[in-house]
Amino acid sequence: MENIKNIAPEVYELIQKEIKRQEETLNLIPSENYVSPAVLEATASVFTNKYVEGYPGKRYYPGCQFADQLEILCSQKAKEVFNLDENWKVHPQPLSGSPANLAIYFGLLEPGEKILSMELTHGGHLSHGYKVHISSKFWSAIHYRVNKNGFIDYDEIEEIAQREKPKIIISGATAYPRIIDFKRFGEIAKRVGAYHLADVSHIAGLIAAGIHPSPFEYADVVMTTTHKTLRGPRSAIIFVRKEIYDKIRRAVFPGIQGGSHQHIICAKTVAFFEALKPEFKEYQKQIVKNAKVLADELIKYGFNLLSGGTDNHLILINLRGVIDASLAEGLLEKANILANRNSVPGDESPFKPTGLRLGTPAVTSRGMKENEMKLIAQWIYRILIKKEDSEEIKYKVIDLCKKFPIYKK
Ligand SMILES: Cc1ncc(COP(=O)(O)O)c(C=O)c1O
Repeated sequence: MENIKNIAPEVYELIQKEIKRQEETLNLIPSENYVSPAVLEATASVFTNKYVEGYPGKRYYPGCQFADQLEILCSQKAKEVFNLDENWKVHPQPLSGSPANLAIYFGLLEPGEKILSMELTHGGHLSHGYKVHISSKFWSAIHYRVNKNGFIDYDEIEEIAQREKPKIIISGATAYPRIIDFKRFGEIAKRVGAYHLADVSHIAGLIAAGIHPSPFEYADVVMTTTHKTLRGPRSAIIFVRKEIYDKIRRAVFPGIQGGSHQHIICAKTVAFFEALKPEFKEYQKQIVKNAKVLADELIKYGFNLLSGGTDNHLILINLRGVIDASLAEGLLEKANILANRNSVPGDESPFKPTGLRLGTPAVTSRGMKENEMKLIAQWIYRILIKKEDSEEIKYKVIDLCKKFPIYKK
């Protein structure tokens, strides 16, 4: 990084500090991950210099021949990763998950039509129609919740769908630790004449590896961010059934976006090549194994987990009556352990969450396995329940991180 060092020393300093922070921190934020050196290289490639508007073969700028080939390759590889046939088309240009969801609503709904999605405090995402998000200003959002045991209640969704006749039903969440029954969602959507959007942002890597059931047979549109379990760059991609592809195509560009970010499309393509390797499947299996061990250990230490455990990469601890969630997040951060405070059912507002969300994609990318998960659970217990000094535990955390470097020198 000599060039950055010479031109912008302050930026260089910040990058060095961030490298150290990442290397010395146990990252349990379930939506984060570490991309490979190959994905990092692609992110910094010269494709960042190219203005690309429109679609391969129909661009608004000259000089797009290689950008076109790249975009076509990206879509092909994305389809291979999820084993899709000619009934599916891919839109590789969305800049990130929220604009991708927005484009889907814009393409499929008239203003004021209804979106049925999971309530934010029950695990849904902001862009699924939360009251402060643009998706609830142009369209009308109604929500389903999880039951008292923390599981999706499909009968309730069916009842709401029959009553409210939404135009789109969203399956998929930002904080749901269990298998999602996409088949049931698809059946409900069909019965009420709604589109079924599966937002698999969190679990896309698990689906690609065949560890979580796939939504494709039962959905009209599938959206995923590419930076979570998929371990690609910060971005998103949309898969659409061919009959309605044009609606989504027009909604992304020219409807919402201008030029796509070709260096990120480049990095997504590299990530898809990686996702097609056998090691990726092993990695995803280990994510789930690690999450299960972490969950079991936390239960042994007396923590109350939503739904009693996990089937995927994430865990939600209900801290109500135990410790304030913001305080818990802060105490863990002081020990270099990152887990984010998160709403759980029963919370009055997402601004006062009483839960803690943990995930294993990032620590698994470092090569950590079951034994390390046991250690992490013990540290969480010692900090949050035994009130041991975070600073003391921090040294142990850093020692462990040093044994599992993110980027080998
Ligand atoms: C289920 C789900 N959808 C959409 C998004 C939005 O993605 P982005 O932050 O890239 O806009 C997220 C991000 O956390 C998510 O979890």
